[in-house]
Amino acid sequence: MLAFPSDHSTGDDRPSDFDDDWAEQYARRYADRDDLDEVVEFLLKRGGDEGTYLDLCSGVGRIAIPLASRAVHVTGVDNAPAMLRVMAERGQSLPVDTVLDDCAKIDIGRTFSLAYVTFNSLFQLDDNAAQESMLAGVARHLVPGGRFVVETFVPHPPASSALLGPEASHLSGDRLEFITRKWDVPEQVLWVQRMIVEAPGKVGLRSIRFQYLFPAQLDAMAEAAGLVRESEYADWAERPLCEDSDNRVVVYRLADGSPRR
Ligand SMILES: C[S@@+](CC[C@H](N)C(=O)[O-])C[C@H]1O[C@@H](n2cnc3c(N)ncnc32)[C@H](O)[C@@H]1O
Repeated sequence: MLAFPSDHSTGDDRPSDFDDDWAEQYARRYADRDDLDEVVEFLLKRGGDEGTYLDLCSGVGRIAIPLASRAVHVTGVDNAPAMLRVMAERGQSLPVDTVLDDCAKIDIGRTFSLAYVTFNSLFQLDDNAAQESMLAGVARHLVPGGRFVVETFVPHPPASSALLGPEASHLSGDRLEFITRKWDVPEQVLWVQRMIVEAPGKVGLRSIRFQYLFPAQLDAMAEAAGLVRESEYADWAERPLCEDSDNRVVVYRLADGSPRR
């Protein structure tokens, strides 16, 4: 489990929280998070039926597996061996391959029609330098005119740093969950700690750290990497984004003449 800081330090040696135990649960737990059909249609519309797809921070292939089921090739990159193992097992008979790597340092040796990073995973990179490096890597791995789709939450932080919660986030016959959020406003870091109580008497903690960006900051970072915003939505169904939207799905396009390879 990630070290959850009692102060505002970020902790340089944070191990991956995506271990065997979590990888096993992940596919089941988030299977119904989105309408996966909508996500797949959204991506296919931008990457094409003949396209090749790069899933960054792919996890267990929550998106890659249904996308590859539509006969397009998907390469998943993740730095958690346990998550990739589950993805490889699920994708055995599908056109998928996996690359164990840090998404801030990708060097796959081929280009893709469309790259994407879903479920706030861009914010899970360690810091802004790692995020910038990931976007530069994406630009290097896109075909001319290729697209990059990013799904993140839209931060609505409190006025100053605060520990908020807990609030109940799940209730079922055999499981109760609470979430507590710690906002470090100056550093733009959000820690989310989840307490999971399962019958009979099992209690677990899961924490996740987000180096969050406001939409304009992400757009500026993308533009510096040669990725120009093409469109943005509040969700995969392409509902319009508004000031109080909680989520954002944004499409960038590789600018003409970018990147300098
Ligand atoms: C919340 S999961 C989301 C997985 C997937 N994107 C989805 O939508 O289900 C975040 C994933 O990002 C991976 N991850 C975090 N930081 C990474 C990094 N620097 N390089 C590669 N993978 C990373 C984790 O191992 C984990 O599998």
